[in-house]
Amino acid sequence: MDTVTFTILRYDPEKGSKPYYQDFEVKLNKPGMMILDGLNQIRWEQDGTLAFRRSCREGVCGSDGINVNGANMLTCVTHIEEVVKNGKLVIQPLPGMALVKDLVVDLSDFLQKYFLVKPYLISKTPAPARERLQSPEDRKKLDGLYECILCGCCSSSCPSYWADPEYLGPSALLNVWRFVEDSRDEGAEERLGLLDNRNGAWRCHTILNCIEACPKGLNPTQAIAGIKRALVERKF
Ligand code: FES
Repeated sequence: MDTVTFTILRYDPEKGSKPYYQDFEVKLNKPGMMILDGLNQIRWEQDGTLAFRRSCREGVCGSDGINVNGANMLTCVTHIEEVVKNGKLVIQPLPGMALVKDLVVDLSDFLQKYFLVKPYLISKTPAPARERLQSPEDRKKLDGLYECILCGCCSSSCPSYWADPEYLGPSALLNVWRFVEDSRDEGAEERLGLLDNRNGAWRCHTILNCIEACPKGLNPTQAIAGIKRALVERKF
């Protein structure tokens, strides 16, 4: 295979036209090309107006979440050869989020929901002389939680998130659980209090899309199950 067809959703609100798909031929001119390499090739050699986000190119910043052949992923860490079907990639912006231009979506609502759940340590006891210590066993409980890079791939894959604009979504909920599970945090009550309603944890219907969509291999559904269990336990 010398070339791959990138079929990309284009949209420019300033031109006043409806979204449409445009084909680009991407040359596979180096081994192990990522989808981001293909998008860069298009922007640098074919159409400088193509809009997409990227920054670190290492799967760390979370800015390049995108939908390729129906699945959400990061363009910078996904090999073209991993996902290409019949020589073609259909590339669209993350679903369920407002479209800004081409492959760029508006993440404001997604990030507002993240900040709503207080994603920082809350302490009520006086600060110790040096630092708040944590045992290796308690630190281990945060594995699989702290690695979230806020790319939006999980929330944008969730039908409950699409259907209910008030639902916090799997990413925000995973981040709540990351702090509830932290032995140094003293804000579990106020965090859980935010979630015991139909737009909090109970809106999750265990559809499981979020697990497949997470490029870091995290399990938001399991985190939400932990929240649900804690919500039930605090009633008794
Ligand atoms: Fe930063 Fe892909 S460019 S995660």
